[in-house]
Amino acid sequence: MTEFEYRDGILNAESVAIPALAVAVGTPFYCYSSAGLTRRYTDFADAFAGQDALICYSVKANSNLAVIGTLARLGAGADVVSEGELRRALAAGVPPERIVFSGVGKTRDEIAYALAQGIYRINVESEPELQALGAIAASTDRQVEIGIRVNPDVDAKTHAKIATGRAENKFGVDIAHALRIFAQAHALPGVTPKTVAVHIGSQLNDLAPMRIAFSAVAELVAALRADGHDIDSIDLGGGLGIRYDDEDPPSRTAYATMVLEATGNLGCRLIFEPGRTLAGNSGILVTRVIYEKIGASRRFVIVDAAMNDLIRPALYDAHHEILPVRETPGDAARAPADIVGPICETGDTFARARLLPELRPDDLIAFASAGAYGAVMASSYNTRRLIPEVLVRNNAYSVVRRRPDYDELLQLERLADWQ
Ligand code: LLP
Repeated sequence: MTEFEYRDGILNAESVAIPALAVAVGTPFYCYSSAGLTRRYTDFADAFAGQDALICYSVKANSNLAVIGTLARLGAGADVVSEGELRRALAAGVPPERIVFSGVGKTRDEIAYALAQGIYRINVESEPELQALGAIAASTDRQVEIGIRVNPDVDAKTHAKIATGRAENKFGVDIAHALRIFAQAHALPGVTPKTVAVHIGSQLNDLAPMRIAFSAVAELVAALRADGHDIDSIDLGGGLGIRYDDEDPPSRTAYATMVLEATGNLGCRLIFEPGRTLAGNSGILVTRVIYEKIGASRRFVIVDAAMNDLIRPALYDAHHEILPVRETPGDAARAPADIVGPICETGDTFARARLLPELRPDDLIAFASAGAYGAVMASSYNTRRLIPEVLVRNNAYSVVRRRPDYDELLQLERLADWQ
């Protein structure tokens, strides 16, 4: 995480000191690094230099307009899963011809909207969805090129809640029935299947399951071509893991080598949907200590961020490194602490028995690796306001999402007419 480093003993985001930011925007807040996003995107793109590769940033990881915009300006497309995300991608300047739309439950309205925008691919995930899309295409007299997402029944070896490639998961059409479903698609007036898509899970640190899935896709492309389909692209999804703790994720080059080996010389465009690997370590969550409370058997550090701001530890038992904003000397005493938020449930715990230096009220700490699946998964549980997001570039910063005031939080609601 080279964009978040100590300078003169103070944590910086690029050349912006975190304590100054905390004073300017208040805590808690998310802080993203333009340089981090840029470096990770460029590294990914470089690994596929010379290939016809379309890198569609998976907007669900961090859909702030300024984050999408940063990547779009580098040439990234977008992978979206809802009309809302599609609107965001377009608003951030992603050209429609670089947008792919995945998801098992696209509504007819969403499909119609996506078709009207002329996006690159809708990746269909079921026969009923295919029929719905066919009906919409016919009623609007449009010619549509689509992708079909297959489920290769591969164990991605990741957390069960984010594995998507097993037959028991809700995603994609069973690869064993893919030939039949591509034929069905081809028979629909106005619809041409052009892409085979796959995505087996997220936070994948082992290339082996991906290799199995991608090889199966390559075999399928050969069979589809033998059946007369003009397949021009494969969408290999996202999923590349990042380092949160002591993981050892594959390098971009190892990933690219595996992709090229597994998919061979299909002469296809390669589509990728990376999310976490671009955004995850490009962001932190900064929070302030409210109290240190010594319980009967534990030391609790109560901070002003909570599970509604960053739900990953509560939902997936995820580990996020904790960085004291004031650097601790290597020989300073450390003691186990539970880092908890103010929300009224025990699940509102960021870390248990983490070895940390003394932390006093008003001290700042940062949760690392919070750039992906952080702000996007936030809620206003306990009527807490969504927290600001700040984008840093060199020594400049911009508040790219402001903290709403309480009136804004309440204004969508009203008492019932009879009250
Ligand atoms: N493409 C598809 C079809 C996906 O479902 C996903 C993620 C991606 C791409 C991007 O995957 P990535 O490169 O970010 O691994 N909230 C969870 C992660 C959920 C991932 C869902 N799908 C977490 O916080 O770990």
